[in-house]
Amino acid sequence: MKTDPSTKIFDLLQFGEYGDVNPSVCDSATFTFMQAKTMLDTFQGDAEGCFLYSRHWNPSNKYLADALAAMEGTESAWVTASGMAAITCSILQICNSGDHIVCSLTTYGGTFAFLYNYVKKFNIGVSFVDITNLEEVKNAIRPNTKLIYTETVTNPLLQISDIPALARLSDEHGIKLVVDNTFTPMIVAPFKLGAHVVVYSMTKFINGKNDCVAGAICASKEFIDSLSNVNDGTAMLLGPALDPLRSSSILKNLHTLHIRMKQHSRNALYLAEKFRESGVKINYPGLPENKGYEKLKEMMNPEFGFGGLIAIDMVTAEKAARLMEMMEKAGVGYLAVSLGYFKTLFSNSGKSTSSEVPEEIQREMGLSEGLVRFSVGLDNDIENTWQKIRSCLRQM
Ligand SMILES: Cc1ncc(COP(=O)(O)O)c(C=O)c1O
Repeated sequence: MKTDPSTKIFDLLQFGEYGDVNPSVCDSATFTFMQAKTMLDTFQGDAEGCFLYSRHWNPSNKYLADALAAMEGTESAWVTASGMAAITCSILQICNSGDHIVCSLTTYGGTFAFLYNYVKKFNIGVSFVDITNLEEVKNAIRPNTKLIYTETVTNPLLQISDIPALARLSDEHGIKLVVDNTFTPMIVAPFKLGAHVVVYSMTKFINGKNDCVAGAICASKEFIDSLSNVNDGTAMLLGPALDPLRSSSILKNLHTLHIRMKQHSRNALYLAEKFRESGVKINYPGLPENKGYEKLKEMMNPEFGFGGLIAIDMVTAEKAARLMEMMEKAGVGYLAVSLGYFKTLFSNSGKSTSSEVPEEIQREMGLSEGLVRFSVGLDNDIENTWQKIRSCLRQM
């Protein structure tokens, strides 16, 4: 195994205030000081270990951030109230007005909308590229480019980003590589492969319970300190603070992530092979004929498998809708957006999580209107689940 992120978390002993094995939840927005000078030092970032105000830091958020930094192998981390907050704060911390970003054309719809529609108001330019075409990525870099943005496994086409090659390219140009690793926590460690900033929607696999939205940024101490700087830190000033009650529950769920990832991957591979056998067009990076298979194999910690996301092509949106409705009735899982849940979730990406992408761009990137993305659950009897899916496919 290349790295063992689960052992890194396991080895991190976090003692609660009273010896509690789950660190006490710090249910406080503000913190007292015995000396006024220490308060000023904390404002200026010079008082290590002191807490000031929960939008800045909170002990519960710090426990979770420390565990995430251990998992990712970064010096530091920051937790946010959503994955989008992690993404937008990281990007806006790096870019100023007049700067330029190179971004994978296939990215989560919200990220695409932010970069396609929103950053214009800051006069930030964005070139969208096929992230698997390194020549195209290189040619898109301009003198004012500040970052390359991609997802390890892109949403929803499941393309594989060559993180070491993109990191080399970024280093050659003195720019940052920001990687969204939401689909592949523990499976891939982007920071170890050279990425500068790793972002997560913890709403998905990391929390795994679908009971909240949350995000994380893992990076160098310098970058995290800059985000939380009281004078010009994007996270501090835009204020997407995660509620400490939530960080405390996410921390407990993080401790089972390694077991869940293995089971998600095992079940996804099983279904992918069954779809292939039955002649349905299937996209799963864990199948050897998949374009990204070799690259992902090179980068991954094999113990955790190829991930829990698969996509099938039902060719038309009508057929996709019919299949999804039947599968929901048959008890395969839920017709719902999002991923990383213990139940299987499925949705038609073009009509849901990528609906922000204009239809002509969906066609340009090769997103079929009949694409059904599955986030495969933790089913103990996946063969039984397949029988249900097969019976729905037969009724199509
Ligand atoms: C890959 C990816 N990144 C980021 C996000 C955004 O996360 P959140 O909904 O927690 O803001 C999503 C949401 O679906 C996603 O799929």
